[in-house]
Amino acid sequence: MDQIIVRGNGPLSGEIPIAGAKNACLTLMPATLLTDQPLTLTNAPRLSDIRTMTALLQSLGAEVASLQDGQVLALSSHALTSHRADYDIVRKMRASILVLGPMLARDGRAEVSLPGGCAIGARPVDLHLRALEAMGAELDLRDGYVHARAPSGGLKGAVVDFPLVSVGATENALMAATLARGTTVLQNAAREPEIVDLARCLRAMGARIEGEGTSTITIEGTDSLHGATHPVVTDRIELGTYMLAPAICGGEVECLGGRIDLLSAFCEKLDEAGISVSETPRGLKVGRRNGIRAVNVTTKPFPGFPTDLQAQFMALMCVAEGTSVLEETIFENRFMHAPELTRMGARIEVHGGHATVTGVDGLRGAPVMATDLRASVSLILAGLAAEGQTTVSRVYHLDRGYEHVVRKLRGVGAHIERVKEE
Ligand code: EPZ
Repeated sequence: MDQIIVRGNGPLSGEIPIAGAKNACLTLMPATLLTDQPLTLTNAPRLSDIRTMTALLQSLGAEVASLQDGQVLALSSHALTSHRADYDIVRKMRASILVLGPMLARDGRAEVSLPGGCAIGARPVDLHLRALEAMGAELDLRDGYVHARAPSGGLKGAVVDFPLVSVGATENALMAATLARGTTVLQNAAREPEIVDLARCLRAMGARIEGEGTSTITIEGTDSLHGATHPVVTDRIELGTYMLAPAICGGEVECLGGRIDLLSAFCEKLDEAGISVSETPRGLKVGRRNGIRAVNVTTKPFPGFPTDLQAQFMALMCVAEGTSVLEETIFENRFMHAPELTRMGARIEVHGGHATVTGVDGLRGAPVMATDLRASVSLILAGLAAEGQTTVSRVYHLDRGYEHVVRKLRGVGAHIERVKEE
């Protein structure tokens, strides 16, 4: 397995291009199952999760061509040859569950492995299933799979009131509703930019959708959808991650393609911490005025502070002046980066969903281990500001969500390299 070696090297300067959003692309790709016409996605990120979703769609009989070095995905599913999403693929990537709604809406049947838990939490899919049942789906859970059938006349429109905000369940229901008979209203729907992006793509395919980005989304079902070409929205989590690099190291970096509206709550916290963020014609420029101030953070569904940036923000708070409390309200086990940061000299106390971070003058490089996607990049950020060498192992986690991380950080002056583990 590869390792990434980072050495603190002082302030950063230059520009970092931000890629298309992994979490948008992973829901846009299954949308191809809703039509027999071609769907083309541009600005697609080059990530292992995208390759996994490609393999899954191909196993169902869809064609997925990766063009222009992976930045363009040409998808089409004339006729599905299978309706079974196998455990061996689904267990590698939970987002595989997002083929359930489209497959059920298109062909009236689907067999999708239950994803199982993951490092950050149990992550059940009950809300996905409840929404599809409300649309008339008959679901049979057995041998670790969801065996789903739509009624003979297909799915029907329904009012779906989500008891808690779920990005994936909103996406599954939104896609299924585009081909259901009648009107579907999703209440307490997730408002993430990735859902807005999905709705825009579905509308380009002929779907009739209103209210995306708010808590209530209304969909008028249609008989069929046609193809489209759609640009994947900028990845706000990659953006926030790289905005933290000059924040933690000092200097000034321009994140190309960055937009404040994708991360307003996060940018407010950066401002409170003493980090300057300004909009430029090409993206967002981030610099550090003076010291870093400790600020408290509570993760929330969009438009709140994103849970996917909690680990990275903790790295910044480790070297802030004062004490901060980070409250994780979305997942039950998302502080696994804390003990690794502690190995680098951070002072962090975790009690349930709260982590109390007391800033220290500086971190010291150490061998650390990545435990999940966002924790892995939190350790790299800490290593950028630490005295000495930090070696991050199990970087396969990183490859799921960050393309060319070494090249992008080297481009702004970081001392970082990727090596084969001895
Ligand atoms: C999406 O996961 C993202 N993944 C996650 O990003 C992100 O952390 C999460 O949304 C929250 O923003 C993708 O988009 C591929 P949820 P998802 O359903 O859809 C509970 C990353 O690092 N829940 O909004 O799985 C669940 O356990 C990944 O890129 C149920 O109880 O998240 C969690 O506590 C990590 N029942 C909460 O809701 C359900 O049926 C929010 O989960 C579904 C979810």
